[in-house]
Amino acid sequence: MLRTADLSVEKIHKLLEEATEFSKDKVLKATSEIYVANLFFEDSTRTKTSFDVAERKLGLNVVPFDVSASSVNKGESLYDTVKTLKSIGIDLCVIRHKKEKFYDEFKNIDISIINGGDGTGNHPSQNLLDLMTIQQEFGDFKGLKVGIVGDVKHSRVANSNAEVLRKLGAKVYFSGPEEWFDEGTIINGTYLSIDDLVKEVDVVMLLRIQHERHDNDKKMKFSADKYHRKFGLTKEREKAMKEGAIIMHPAPINRGVEIDADLVECSRSRIFKQMENGVFARMAILKTALEAKGFEFK
Ligand code: CP
Repeated sequence: MLRTADLSVEKIHKLLEEATEFSKDKVLKATSEIYVANLFFEDSTRTKTSFDVAERKLGLNVVPFDVSASSVNKGESLYDTVKTLKSIGIDLCVIRHKKEKFYDEFKNIDISIINGGDGTGNHPSQNLLDLMTIQQEFGDFKGLKVGIVGDVKHSRVANSNAEVLRKLGAKVYFSGPEEWFDEGTIINGTYLSIDDLVKEVDVVMLLRIQHERHDNDKKMKFSADKYHRKFGLTKEREKAMKEGAIIMHPAPINRGVEIDADLVECSRSRIFKQMENGVFARMAILKTALEAKGFEFK
């Protein structure tokens, strides 16, 4: 699981089926000892914790790995860290790293890698939990209109969701500060103003502003208040949404910036449902990756 868009439509549906079964309390455990480690070189609450829970639910041995207390701080490279863990007996690593396609350097190491987020590249486990949440609501993706709003250019969630949603037959729309978009950014969708977008789509998917990836780009500077008024999901915009339309956000959320604080837990919001689904989606991903290596679950 490095890029969701590399998976066939059939494989994506199979993963969604597996995740759905786990959500209905299906219990499966590894039939042999399997050792896994979660290496997060960027901060995380949801992805790291839900992989940890998913791994324990599948009966895997989770070996603690704290980047800040590891020999990475003595200059050890990512390659040598992973090669070391393989030598020690780790079978699978979940890795989040700021370097796009960090996984390319592990081609010669016989270890399973799950991408927990690579720079502005991809976030496949987030994609799968987002797809699962949309499928639970609407059943199918064909003809569904999904609007992705905000810092699309720097968001690995937006980039990978747009690609995979289009592949599954959905129509993708984007909105946000126009200066944050370039030709490459909207390759998989259509740009609309936020006021037009909220009236058009079945899913409003909001994004956090990725300040950590903006360097000192002046075009990226907005006060929280101004951003909320011009591009955020305000109460007025929520009222303009279609009947049955839902609100999603990969989180962390900045309440009052990309979304009005009172809308985070409103009846249209599926934000905490996404987090709940994250455990099941990650169980499906772990099982699939490990089965590909010959491990079994019963
Ligand atoms: N959505 C997401 O990736 O959250 P974390 O950064 O907390 O893992």
